[in-house]
Amino acid sequence: MDGNGRWARERGKERVYGHFEGVESVRAVMEAAVEWGIPYISFFAFSEENWGRPEAEVSTLMELMGSAMLREMDNFMQHDIRFIVLGNLSRLSEKLRSDIDRAMAKTAGNKGLTMILFLSYSGQWDILQAAEKMAHDLIDNPGHEVRPEDLSRHLVTAGIPDPDLLIRTSGEQRISNYLLWQMAYTEFVFTDTLWPDFRREAFLQALQEYASRDRRFGKIK
Ligand code: IPE
Ligand code: MG
Repeated sequence: MDGNGRWARERGKERVYGHFEGVESVRAVMEAAVEWGIPYISFFAFSEENWGRPEAEVSTLMELMGSAMLREMDNFMQHDIRFIVLGNLSRLSEKLRSDIDRAMAKTAGNKGLTMILFLSYSGQWDILQAAEKMAHDLIDNPGHEVRPEDLSRHLVTAGIPDPDLLIRTSGEQRISNYLLWQMAYTEFVFTDTLWPDFRREAFLQALQEYASRDRRFGKIK
């Protein structure tokens, strides 16, 4: 989700105004995903690198995330949405962490869309923490021939399928330390639309582009 700051600036407003509008896009995309029967959707809400933004913006974003999550609880329950937050959560405030724990526990049994919010996440951090755990496993089992699954099961995304499609908004064409390991065969769609303008129509267009791709996974068809 990129382009909130630019969206606000184009309107002569503070960056935070773009973040508020961006929450509406998350809701629109989430509701479309429910309606269209998409099983998993994830949002890269805040990266490990984003901690380096000015303190005021970071705290506003954290508050916004906490309040939006609590506000959406009824919506999650009503639409059978399982809500999951993944990332280096040790860096979050205790209050936000406990709100997240409660939201995840309450929606854990829901069977519809799984909605994942990546918070304080980076792909390299994820691979490192998984590699560390895998190394511990190897100490107990030194002759084991290491396979990709040995690392995958220690990633924070363990049990969640790798993404079929990545959509990046706002004209940037880079991965910015998102799901590096998990995106080995992901299709990328880049759009100039700024995140606060990315609603149902833009989402549908991205899905249509995805549907036109020929996925071969390195093989020949
Ligand atoms: C994306 O919008 C939201 C977050 C990273 C939290 P930006 O804040 O990156 O907006 P731009 O890129 O400055 O326009
Ligand atoms: Mg940005």
